[in-house]
Amino acid sequence: MVLTAGIISYGCNSKPDNLNQKVVPSEVALIEHTAALSEAEGMQLLETHCFACHSPKSVSHDEMLAPPLAGIKHRYKTLYPDRNTFISRMTAYISKPSEENAVMRGPVRRFGLMPPTTLEEEKIRELTAFIYDNSLPAPKWFPKHFEEKHGEKWN
Ligand code: HEC
Repeated sequence: MVLTAGIISYGCNSKPDNLNQKVVPSEVALIEHTAALSEAEGMQLLETHCFACHSPKSVSHDEMLAPPLAGIKHRYKTLYPDRNTFISRMTAYISKPSEENAVMRGPVRRFGLMPPTTLEEEKIRELTAFIYDNSLPAPKWFPKHFEEKHGEKWN
């Protein structure tokens, strides 16, 4: 039974309700057949569908509209180091954002829940695989913020 969700919370992080759920075999098969996007395709999708809010060009922590994707990726990788699980969880969140499954509840309180994207599920999966496999640009202020919050170097 999960009693800790919502009680243990440090910084802007928390443990999502689906933390220990296994990825079902049918989804593993889908993930393993997901097409690899080129760097140009992946960055284009991010620019068009994500960076309006998750901008790597935001000038400060106070002025961003949503947390930087590079930081979100770091949090997902910490919780879900396994590639299939990472892709499954991030795809599910982007298709249907929910507070229970958010890995960071501070931003949900600060900005409200992310609106669901218009991308189709297969595209989202291609994009989350791209996010897992590639390094993402972070705003200039972010490494310092990360180091202050986590007491460890960014990258
Ligand atoms: C209209 C603004 C907006 C757009 C566009 C947007 N997001 Fe978000 N996103 C947010 C906000 C605000 C949050 C923080 C609140 C939350 O977690 O729901 C967030 C949170 C997230 C999270 C972390 C959720 C968690 O587990 O805590 C992920 C992953 C994410 N976005 C990915 C994406 C990706 C990938 C795209 C592009 C396909 C995208 N977002 C497009 C506003 C947006």
